[in-house]
Amino acid sequence: MASAREERDAADQNFDYMFKLLIIGNSSVGKTSFLFRYTDDSFTSAFVSTVGIDFKVKTIYRNDKRIKLQIWDTAGQERYRTITTAYYRGAMGFLLVYDITSQDSFVAVQDWGTQIKTYSWDNAQVVLVGNKLDLEEDRQVPTEDGQRLATELGFEFFEASAKECINVKQVFDKLVDVICDKMNDGVSSDASPSPNHKEAGLKDTPRGIQGGCTC
Ligand code: GTP
Ligand code: MG
Repeated sequence: MASAREERDAADQNFDYMFKLLIIGNSSVGKTSFLFRYTDDSFTSAFVSTVGIDFKVKTIYRNDKRIKLQIWDTAGQERYRTITTAYYRGAMGFLLVYDITSQDSFVAVQDWGTQIKTYSWDNAQVVLVGNKLDLEEDRQVPTEDGQRLATELGFEFFEASAKECINVKQVFDKLVDVICDKMNDGVSSDASPSPNHKEAGLKDTPRGIQGGCTC
């Protein structure tokens, strides 16, 4: 569950924009690890499967604007699906994670994509992430397959490693980028980012996110 500090951060109204993001994908692909690497720059090999849903808050700066990211970490286990899909609505962006050493987790990406289409806003942006890039010797999913599927589904694509801190910040930066681009297009003007969102959209071209993990 969120700590008292995180709850305080979450309640902090001092921001220009709030983006609600969701991390989804099969159990054990590394969703929680990915989030902890991004927000706390930490990693543990122990596997503690997420129960239901949890969140962390991180504030980043872009063009002197304060963007508060509310990042929801969902349980991959099927039995929590009813709870987790209830959080899709209102999410502006998704990290859809699979494990490059697990063909099953990759096959499931189609289903996760369908869940996004079913339960989220039409303009929600998605980055497909092939995690555990450090386990190259156990790879079951070729990079080209990941890239091809992402293109087919209209998603951005990265391979990454929460463990070795490869492409973690880049993935979040890209997701924020595409959300900002969409807002600038005015395409998402009917999809209000959050109840706390103070303005209709970013007015400047988004560049140079600050913050993020230190790796
Ligand atoms: P659920 O909460 O059940 O949905 O799983 P999850 O997707 O949150 O997985 P979690 O982050 O708990 O990670 C599962 C296991 O994979 C843990 O033992 C992690 O240490 C390990 N793991 C996560 N990311 C990586 C990575 O990039 N490389 C390697 N080698 N192991 C990883
Ligand atoms: Mg988890």
